[in-house]
Amino acid sequence: MVIGIQRDQLRMNDKFKNLHKKHTKGLYPDKFLDLIFTHSDIVRQIALKIADNLSQNKIVVNMDLVESGSMFHDIGVYLCFDDEFNPDASLSKYLCHGHEGYKLLKEEGYDEQVARFALTHTGTGITKEDIKRENMPFEPRDFIPVTLEEEIVCYADKFHTKWPSFNTFEEAKARLERFDPSKGIIMDRFKMKFGSPNLSDLQQEYREWHKNMETFFNSLPKAK
Ligand SMILES: [Fe+2]
Repeated sequence: MVIGIQRDQLRMNDKFKNLHKKHTKGLYPDKFLDLIFTHSDIVRQIALKIADNLSQNKIVVNMDLVESGSMFHDIGVYLCFDDEFNPDASLSKYLCHGHEGYKLLKEEGYDEQVARFALTHTGTGITKEDIKRENMPFEPRDFIPVTLEEEIVCYADKFHTKWPSFNTFEEAKARLERFDPSKGIIMDRFKMKFGSPNLSDLQQEYREWHKNMETFFNSLPKAK
């Protein structure tokens, strides 16, 4: 039985890794894959901490969905950088990675429930007002987390960046408030609902990985 569960877990990890491998690209495909896949896996672990706390309070969370959503939320990022790891000018704003990821997941055969994690995780969600104000190149609709699982993944994602580093709650909130002060209110609501996850074990576990990734970034030719 235990072996069966382990095999299921392995198959699930293969499914995640294979889709990331399929879409990485550029001059440094292994590093790009390592950055986005590891960031996604860190978000998965933060999201599961939040979901575990909720479960202990008898709140029902679909853990499989939280895992899939975490592992696939940034799959569109592979389309938003050029070959030299710079944000791609042809996709006018990096914020498009959610929409690109949604399309990609649909094309790969994933259903709306999974694909929506890509669409709804950016910031605290993108509203039609954001789209109009920032002149984003997609239709003015609300793309905000609605289900409990979408909210968990969106919130967990705010605690780790792809630069990469961990964020405290205050750092994540301040970053979003620079974009729009009302985003801070949503962060406060998330915190009241989900708490502030303890990241000390992850900070320890990924210390070397962060250092290595920083060294790699510093070795890249500077964007012109
Ligand atoms: Fe992310």
